[in-house]
Amino acid sequence: MPELFDVIIIGAGQAGVPLAHALAQRGRRTALVERKNLGGSCVNFGCTPTKAAIASARVAHLARRAREFGLRIPSVDVDFVAVIERARGIVNATRAGIERSFAGLDNPKLIHGQAKLDGRDGEHFVIATGSRLLSAEQVVLDTGTRSLIPPIDGIDAVDVIHAGNWLDHRELPERLIVIGGGVIALEMAQFYRRMGSSVTVLEASQQIAGTEDPDVAGALKGILEREGISFVLGASVRRIVNRGDEIAILLGVGGTEILGSHLFIATGRQPNTDDLGLDSVGVRSEKGIIKVDERLATNVAGIWAAGDIRGGPMFTHTAWDDHRVLLSQIAGDGARTTMRVIPYAIYTDPEIGRVGMNEKAARASGTTIKVARFEVQRNSKAVELGETEGFIKVIVDAGNGQIIGATVFCYDAAELVHMYVDLMNAHAPYSVIREAIHIHPTLAEGIQSVLFDL
Ligand code: NAI
Repeated sequence: MPELFDVIIIGAGQAGVPLAHALAQRGRRTALVERKNLGGSCVNFGCTPTKAAIASARVAHLARRAREFGLRIPSVDVDFVAVIERARGIVNATRAGIERSFAGLDNPKLIHGQAKLDGRDGEHFVIATGSRLLSAEQVVLDTGTRSLIPPIDGIDAVDVIHAGNWLDHRELPERLIVIGGGVIALEMAQFYRRMGSSVTVLEASQQIAGTEDPDVAGALKGILEREGISFVLGASVRRIVNRGDEIAILLGVGGTEILGSHLFIATGRQPNTDDLGLDSVGVRSEKGIIKVDERLATNVAGIWAAGDIRGGPMFTHTAWDDHRVLLSQIAGDGARTTMRVIPYAIYTDPEIGRVGMNEKAARASGTTIKVARFEVQRNSKAVELGETEGFIKVIVDAGNGQIIGATVFCYDAAELVHMYVDLMNAHAPYSVIREAIHIHPTLAEGIQSVLFDL
């Protein structure tokens, strides 16, 4: 007989963990099944360690800029193993905290193992985990994504570094080639460059940071180039050859060769749904992404999906918000849906904080818009900090004065963009910020200054 639960959650990511605790608190007998580590991509190899590593890289960068601030730091000696160990230490502490939250609890019950949907037993869905059978009327799938490794000729002969395994590589790459020019590629390229690697980024399209406006992506590329990162845009990777002492990437028909010592692949994510047994109960998916409605319900009543595998934005904060949607659907009033304002950040230095539409999308939408842009070098705190790179761009609906999108591209932008996020959630016009008093001197004055031009 299968062990009976009210809800079974598969995957202990940023939706699964808080949902398991919240459902148990509301008296639902809940199981959380995880095959590997608690905390998902964010804690184990994504947000947590990358931001820790990026912090080390920034210290190195500032130390190299010491002269600008009137200080002498004769040389910067990077201890790469120590940088990786610091990041791993923060991962371990964060993960241990999540593990402790389940210690001694029978509800939610944490079960270690690979779970798979295995058909129905009357009204219940059956989940197989090894030799153990579980069943519940409600199942939440939160199994996340993994690095997509493109089937390039010769790739199997190379020990590729990717978002999932970079923490296992304690050797600093001497000459790193990065395939892909998206979020992960750019954050990691700058990290390795600041650690001392030479870095070449190969991007298939004509623009890095494809989610951003061309002016933002172009400015970011210029900054990264000045730090010594090389870019090849329109790169068509034909073949990879492992020559033992070096890796050769063959581009295009002409056979241009890019040589390096290590290869990092950041060409997108692939959903972990191939071995979930979706067909056994008829859950619909497309290229592994599970189809859901705005309640995160799949086409099969009682089966829900959360986090990266449900399509749409792949962020920790959206996965976490999914748990609030699902709590409302499974054990609440069902009012909460995924109709939400979603911000994100790219953690290059300077950062890009984004919310809503970019200018390109806003123009394409047909809405009559006003666009304001402010160069961060005009902000006095930025000058005092020596952080004058970047600009702020705000897009306003000319009809009602509400902000429909903003790009904050400067130091600490991931924090600063929240002023626009909150204004958008309040459906308030931009004049609320324009008429407010912001402290002087702050970068937050720039968030206001840009609006004076509207
Ligand atoms: P991505 O989809 O952002 O970028 C992949 C890039 O690789 C694209 O520009 C694409 O044109 C290029 N590409 C694909 N195949 C290629 C090939 N064969 N040769 C050359 N270029 C090729 O994917 P990425 O960077 O792997 O990020 C994946 C996800 O992780 C995103 O959905 C993002 O939201 C999430 N993420 C978010 C972070 C954040 O919020 N700061 C940080 C890291 C990841």
